[in-house]
Amino acid sequence: MKALVLSGGAGTRLRPITHTSAKQLVPVANKPVLFYGLESIAAAGITEVGIIVGDTVEEIKAAVGDGSRFGIDVTYIHQDQPLGLAHAVLISRDFLGDDDFVMYLGDNFIVGGITDLVREFRTSRPEAQIMLTKVPDPRSFGVAELDGEGRVVRLEEKPEQPRSDLALVGVYLFTPSIHEAVRSIKPSARGELEITHALQWLIDERREVSSTTISGYWKDTGNVVDMLEVNRSVLELLEPVCEGSVADDTEIIGRVHIGEGATVRGSRIVGPAIIGPRTTVENSYIGPSTSIAENCRITDSEIEYSIVLCGSSLDGVGRVESSLIGRDVEITPAPNTPAAHRLVLGDHSKVQISA
Ligand code: TTP
Repeated sequence: MKALVLSGGAGTRLRPITHTSAKQLVPVANKPVLFYGLESIAAAGITEVGIIVGDTVEEIKAAVGDGSRFGIDVTYIHQDQPLGLAHAVLISRDFLGDDDFVMYLGDNFIVGGITDLVREFRTSRPEAQIMLTKVPDPRSFGVAELDGEGRVVRLEEKPEQPRSDLALVGVYLFTPSIHEAVRSIKPSARGELEITHALQWLIDERREVSSTTISGYWKDTGNVVDMLEVNRSVLELLEPVCEGSVADDTEIIGRVHIGEGATVRGSRIVGPAIIGPRTTVENSYIGPSTSIAENCRITDSEIEYSIVLCGSSLDGVGRVESSLIGRDVEITPAPNTPAAHRLVLGDHSKVQISA
């Protein structure tokens, strides 16, 4: 069995972060979201992994390499444009050969991994198996309708009037019959070859498409709200570690991970929180559910329920909450007069200012 991990795409919902970097590499508890997926593929005993890459190919290659650090063997498959999940399968025909495979969306996060799911598929081996979860508003997902025995009878992509509240989770298990399906469908109204259409083609051909409904935790980290929530949930499992230096005038409460070479002085850190290597925290408050990456500088500031990427600094800016801050960002106070905000924001930035 092989794995196909999708790490191309445009990532429009995570702009401006995705103008300069791959959304699959945004860190959750200071580790790229993609790495959690690769680890769970390795844990399920799969070693041959194809990674679909687009414009951010160099960055993904630099981070993942040949996969040996995960115990997997990676083949990169270039997708010129993000033409859909089924298109990714179409262009991976040579890599996949006639093997069964798991398709994993590189920005999805599944607590508990995929080991049980892969085992179940290997035992019952339907033509395709999908994973579903109940969501409050299914309109922005692929949605499945099941019969009384749990077989999938219909799939719709982002329906205006969903027939169920069961959304497709970003992990799919396929036998080689999916190749015939992806060759048989046409692009959708949004110009993509949809995997839901390929699955519907299998259903129409009376091939067995089975489903497992998970109650566990799943998130598509494609938007900031979900990203922060995944970060919170992963930090819940954090082990307290101190590899840096913490001055006596600092109070550490709860589970806090302080990376190598990090320095904390005159501050209060309330876990779960992670402070990356060589980051400095001075006269500041770091609150729960916060991940600060490496080489950052937090001075005379407060931050909570946020993710800060490497090389950024907050200096004397009061309180920051529910924020995703990119790499090498500088946040400083404005001079007192005139009382005005001074902003240099990249394209598609989003800022909320409390007046
Ligand atoms: P999506 O989140 O559905 O698409 P996207 O990356 O274009 O994001 P946005 O909607 O914010 O513009 O993609 C799910 C995953 O699959 C993600 O890791 C990107 C990847 N992907 C590909 O590799 N190729 C594709 O053609 C598409 C559509 C997505």
